[in-house]
Amino acid sequence: MHRGIIAEIDLGAVSANLRSVKALADHSAVIAVVKADAYGHGAVEVSETLVGAGVDYLAVAFTEEAVKLREAGITAPIIILFDPDLRDILKYNLIPVLSDRKTALAFAREVERRGTRIPVHIKVDTGMGRLGLTDGPAREILEIAAEKGIVVEGIMSHLSEADLADPFFTKLQLDAFNALKMELLQSGLQIKMFHIANSAAVMNIPEAHFDAVRPGLMLYGYSSCDNTAKASQAAQLQPVMTAKTRFVSLRRLQAGTPISYARTFVAKRESLIGVIAVGYADGFSTRFSNNAAVLVKGKRAPVVGRVCMDVTMIDLTEIEGVNENEEVVIIGNQGTESIGADELAKRIQTIPYEILTSLGSRAKRRYL
Ligand SMILES: Cc1ncc(COP(=O)(O)O)c(C=O)c1O
Repeated sequence: MHRGIIAEIDLGAVSANLRSVKALADHSAVIAVVKADAYGHGAVEVSETLVGAGVDYLAVAFTEEAVKLREAGITAPIIILFDPDLRDILKYNLIPVLSDRKTALAFAREVERRGTRIPVHIKVDTGMGRLGLTDGPAREILEIAAEKGIVVEGIMSHLSEADLADPFFTKLQLDAFNALKMELLQSGLQIKMFHIANSAAVMNIPEAHFDAVRPGLMLYGYSSCDNTAKASQAAQLQPVMTAKTRFVSLRRLQAGTPISYARTFVAKRESLIGVIAVGYADGFSTRFSNNAAVLVKGKRAPVVGRVCMDVTMIDLTEIEGVNENEEVVIIGNQGTESIGADELAKRIQTIPYEILTSLGSRAKRRYL
């Protein structure tokens, strides 16, 4: 038996979520973000599905992620968001994002020296404070665009809080992006696409859609918005990952038995305690100690005691008829109950992105 987590990845849900993106942003191309191994869902399989379902571009963080997709036979245009490696970009026909003037000029000149010309996107910092031109971006873009080695195909920026209910700062970022767009259009520079919208902006902010949208999280069935359940429902998102495991032990323990390190849980009554072969080494955080539930026989069963490196204890006393081979759901549905990555995130004050990448990247995956 496989220890740890089995992640079932519903590729039909990926296609359905892409359809939701297209329905919400029907005038924009879609750049699907499949970095971090498609947020823990498997970049090759997810990308193949998205390409089959008509996505326009894929985007990854690092060149090596794009090389993996190319080697798997994916020929769709791929944008490298963070780390342009010139040799592989030319070899594998990839699209770099250039985010500072000096690097962009050097990059363009090296491409020209090699006797070729490639499309690039240029990133502008409108308030994320992470990467992108800040110092008179229109002037810098015009300077970069004058280089012969490149064609500036896209101008992009990134929103820092489109998921908040208060649109104040997002509006400032959009105003800056629109002003830049106007300035570039007036200069006569032809740009195929402006893009700034992450999932939250796809769902909540139509004026952020521009020529292309760049969703990640919503393709995997979640929203990071303040009112996540309502937002996901409105966009008809379908969670893609189900995370399951099985018991490695079931024991009846006497009242008064302490469970796990530091005795943070002591059985108040005779208890049926199951041990699942999932621990913090599998991405199930120690912060779930006495602070999560799993689904067994369609019911919620609480995590008791500290989460260990490889195993976690579950109190099954309230559940009738549990046997050794019972399916245990960590994320997903069972009967009428369901546990989402958003619920788990909330319990430990993190974001669904971290839950999906932590559990998904270490799980054994099965594709549906
Ligand atoms: C530059 C960039 N664009 C788009 C996205 C997608 O964001 P989300 O997953 O919130 O849709 C990310 C994700 O972190 C990103 O870094």
